[in-house]
Amino acid sequence: MLELFLKVILYSNLNILAIFNHSQTSLEIQMKKISYFLFFLLLSCSVFAQSNIPRIAIIPQPVYLKQGSGYFKLPENITVHAPNSNEIQSVISILSQRISPATAYHVSTTKNSDQASINLIINDAYDSKLGNEGYHLSVRDSGVKISANMPAGLFYGVQTLIQLLPKEIESKQLQGNIIWQIPLLEITDYPKLAWRGLMFDVARHFFTKEEVKKYIDAMAKYKYNVLHLHLTDDEGWRIEIKGFPKLTEVGAWNVKRIGEFGDFIPQKPDEARNYGGFYTQEDIKELVSYAKDRFINILPEVDVPGHSLAAIASYPELSCTPEAINYKVRSGEKIMDWSGGAPPKALLDNTLCPANELAYSFMDTVITQLAQLFPFEYIHVGGDEAPINFWQKNPQIKELMLREGIQDITKVQGYFTRRIEKIVESKGKKMMAWDEVLEGGVSPTTAVMSWRGMKYGIEAAHNQHEVVMSPTTYAYLDYMQSDAISEPRVYASLRLNKTYEFEPVPEGVDPKYIKGGQANLWTEQVYNIRQAEYMTWPRGLAIAESVWSEKDKKNWPDFMSRVEEHFKRFDIAETKYSPSVYDPIFKAGKTADRKLTVDLSLEIEGLDIYYSFDNSFPDRFYPKYMGTLTVPIDAKQLKLITYRGNKPVGRMLTMPIEELKKRAKL
Ligand code: ACM
Repeated sequence: MLELFLKVILYSNLNILAIFNHSQTSLEIQMKKISYFLFFLLLSCSVFAQSNIPRIAIIPQPVYLKQGSGYFKLPENITVHAPNSNEIQSVISILSQRISPATAYHVSTTKNSDQASINLIINDAYDSKLGNEGYHLSVRDSGVKISANMPAGLFYGVQTLIQLLPKEIESKQLQGNIIWQIPLLEITDYPKLAWRGLMFDVARHFFTKEEVKKYIDAMAKYKYNVLHLHLTDDEGWRIEIKGFPKLTEVGAWNVKRIGEFGDFIPQKPDEARNYGGFYTQEDIKELVSYAKDRFINILPEVDVPGHSLAAIASYPELSCTPEAINYKVRSGEKIMDWSGGAPPKALLDNTLCPANELAYSFMDTVITQLAQLFPFEYIHVGGDEAPINFWQKNPQIKELMLREGIQDITKVQGYFTRRIEKIVESKGKKMMAWDEVLEGGVSPTTAVMSWRGMKYGIEAAHNQHEVVMSPTTYAYLDYMQSDAISEPRVYASLRLNKTYEFEPVPEGVDPKYIKGGQANLWTEQVYNIRQAEYMTWPRGLAIAESVWSEKDKKNWPDFMSRVEEHFKRFDIAETKYSPSVYDPIFKAGKTADRKLTVDLSLEIEGLDIYYSFDNSFPDRFYPKYMGTLTVPIDAKQLKLITYRGNKPVGRMLTMPIEELKKRAKL
């Protein structure tokens, strides 16, 4: 009886997946409602959720999925039949690397397609629906078949296949007692957007080549295809440039400081400058090739004219400010005053000088070498947050303005950007830059990365620029994921549910100009790779779905239930992720007679919060939050923990009452 009920529930769950993927008739809408009901019933039945039949939980959600009944069991000797090409051989080798450690199964190729357990097929005729990255995956009793127009599609089909195997496949150690089976099904899948990016800032803190590879591995699982490396900033120059050795001898190193970056005690002359690192050109080639095998392009960014202190500390002659001779690579001390808004007032001149011909010959050398090292068609040249206060008083800049007929100091950056674009184009590449470059006047050939919200991206698309949306509003992975009491302090928060609202193609914009979307991980407050992972996941899952899956497929509760399945995978893979989605949202208030109150809410339905005011650690035998709490007058701390049923799902949080009083203005 129990089994029958389970089958009914599972079957309706499968229907949902198929229904999600069809255009809707009213009958289907009714069915969808019924299926939603059954789906949530399934989720709430923890007895069934614990059954050993895993739920299909693919991220990003595929376009079309129809499940059959039964499973295909992987044989211990997995044979793969595939066309013979280097790209496909690397797909097979990655498949083998993903399957073998946990299973100890052997993957080999066969010339006989009938005998193959996995057939990888390049379509004879181009299927325009699938495009260059789509695939069709079919799992039948006889085996697995993945077909695609291009090798990228086969690679994405393989990523989906791995997600269909039991979660233990993520382990690097042999897992006993697991039946390595895949549900019988048909999937047709292709991305919504061509640019699906993550930016990793390796300048503020340096991450080794091996750490970047690890980051790439995790990206590949979720079908990202662009890794934007922010290679230079005030805190470090991270790439060897032949002819400018000081960029890495001097520019890659600063003083190690930990704590809250931004206001560190100014550097002292006798402090060791041994914190940092850089990639040699051989390292870069290795990373590019590693990423390419995973169908990821690396977009290099050299951020100019602002954010250039590491270059200027190495070669002060790139600046127009004579005091630059004394500058040091930043270690996190204050160098900008943001109190007046943007552009910031620089306390020292961190800009390449637009009136200095040396700056252009330097950039020519840098861009020449970037163009040789990175096969991707774009080079990013930054352009954000360049201060003008040093330029305002500089005689060379005044002379430039007179000579070029530039009326307004804010247009000086435009002159610089246009010259840089000529250099980029002369190397056969397209230039991309942050949205500030629109203000100085650029040609429509400049591709724009919109970060200050979506509006500059919309404006740029209207002016026929190519646009990648990476707005702070939805896609800034350096922002805190929940309350400041539980996260490394950054000036803003971005919770998972907000990230999931990211929709890179705005209404009213010609979609042909929106190349895609990207999330950015700035690393001022990220000191190690574990924290980089923590900041990326699970928000990187929400972004992956936002750039791959159709808008009308988005469904927060369904997404969240899949995220929880991926939390288990992350645990097994030992990839760090943030549990902040379970942290309550606090709203401090006060009664008419000035008593402190606090309201709590959660991003996820169906959870309970237990709390204490007596400094002890609450569990589910403590008071459950049922509505506004009035804080006892002598309380010092509110401690809380989130549960699903009788299992804790969140972490223990401590909210100081003083902090609540501050927020309530009491
Ligand atoms: C940026 O966040 N300054 C591009």
